[in-house]
Amino acid sequence: MNTQTPHPIQTLPLLTQQVNIALGDRSYGILIGSELFDCDASYIGLPAAACAVIVTNETVAPLYAQRLASALTPRYPAVHTVVLPDGEVYKTWESLNLIFDDLLGQGCDRKTVLFALGGGVVGDMTGFAAASYMRGVPFVQVPTTLLAQVDSSVGGKTAINHPLGKNMIGAFYQPQRVICDLDTLKTLPLRELSAGLAEVIKYGPIADMAFLDWIEANMDALMARDPQALAYAVKQSCEIKTHVVGQDERESGLRAILNFGHTFGHAIEAGMGYGQWLHGEAVGCGMVMAARLSESLGLVDAAFVARLTLLIQRAGLPTVAPVLDAQDNVGRYLALMRVDKKSEAGEIKFVLIDGPGQAVVRSAPDGVVARVIEASCIPA
Ligand code: NAD
Ligand code: GLY
Repeated sequence: MNTQTPHPIQTLPLLTQQVNIALGDRSYGILIGSELFDCDASYIGLPAAACAVIVTNETVAPLYAQRLASALTPRYPAVHTVVLPDGEVYKTWESLNLIFDDLLGQGCDRKTVLFALGGGVVGDMTGFAAASYMRGVPFVQVPTTLLAQVDSSVGGKTAINHPLGKNMIGAFYQPQRVICDLDTLKTLPLRELSAGLAEVIKYGPIADMAFLDWIEANMDALMARDPQALAYAVKQSCEIKTHVVGQDERESGLRAILNFGHTFGHAIEAGMGYGQWLHGEAVGCGMVMAARLSESLGLVDAAFVARLTLLIQRAGLPTVAPVLDAQDNVGRYLALMRVDKKSEAGEIKFVLIDGPGQAVVRSAPDGVVARVIEASCIPA
């Protein structure tokens, strides 16, 4: 783990935790705690600029935009807010252009700092806008969903969707800082909390079985939004993610393990139509399918699959896969999965569990995958 301390943590609210991501001159800190929004110390050391722009959406803006703007006003001469439509279906060129329209319309220069206030959709789009506006301006992630705090705000993947595939257009571009104010999780709908838990659960089977044990023991507390349980889940998830990304920032190998459940999951999201199943719901079900595929290939036993399936159910997530095409369901899944970014020359690559706590990226015979898809679409 990176031990450098880029932030004067003693000036932050009591109990604030910090995880650092070691990426050379792109290193940054992830602050995790309560009341971080309003605390001036959360913003110490960020780049100076004439203008700060908060990018958020129509759901999050009335909840938190004014508080963030008030906190930024002493630091930046001009602070304004861009409000995007809410939803995965709006993770598009059109929404990205709304950000550019605002930045150009307001005369924002190349030092302008963008603040992504919201979940993973806002974070991914704001990051992509920051990567490309005037060939790159700094940005800060202020994630307000559990999913964004444990995963999408960390590691610099930014993207929009294309009708033919999820997150297909984007860039690797690291934020200057991630500010996880855990208090924002109090207003998160339960369905979104569950979706975030899918990405928390993910870290256990791929990297840390002790964390999986902890999640099992604390699932009721997590579902009840116990602040200590949530704080630990966010911190531990960020520790695991930063450890992986620190070794493989641009996913030339190891980082792909963070996509456990995503090959099936992205097919579900695209096949159902973006926004029908939440990303975390699709990943939860996708993890069950990937675990079954691992079992079919002799990598884990049935007890491991049952254990993971039960935990995903306890998180309130679906574990029966949707039928994407009444005529040719398997064909539709396979076609969608071939568009996955891990595919090479049309060969689908899956993140599989190669014994508890260890992941491997590999292909599988279409016939075996087909049987897993068929079995996964039938309620147990
Ligand atoms: P989201 O951004 O759509 O947010 C979920 C919903 O919660 C939205 O309606 C949002 O407006 C609302 N919301 C956000 N914060 C709230 C709060 N505090 N209180 C009340 N409502 C709130 O979805 P998400 O699950 O945060 O993110 C999913 C996206 O993240 C997907 O597009 C996925 O591809 C992406 N993702 C990216 C990475 C990455 O590494 N970049 C990793 C995982 C997921
Ligand atoms: N969410 C997967 C990754 O960041 O690589």
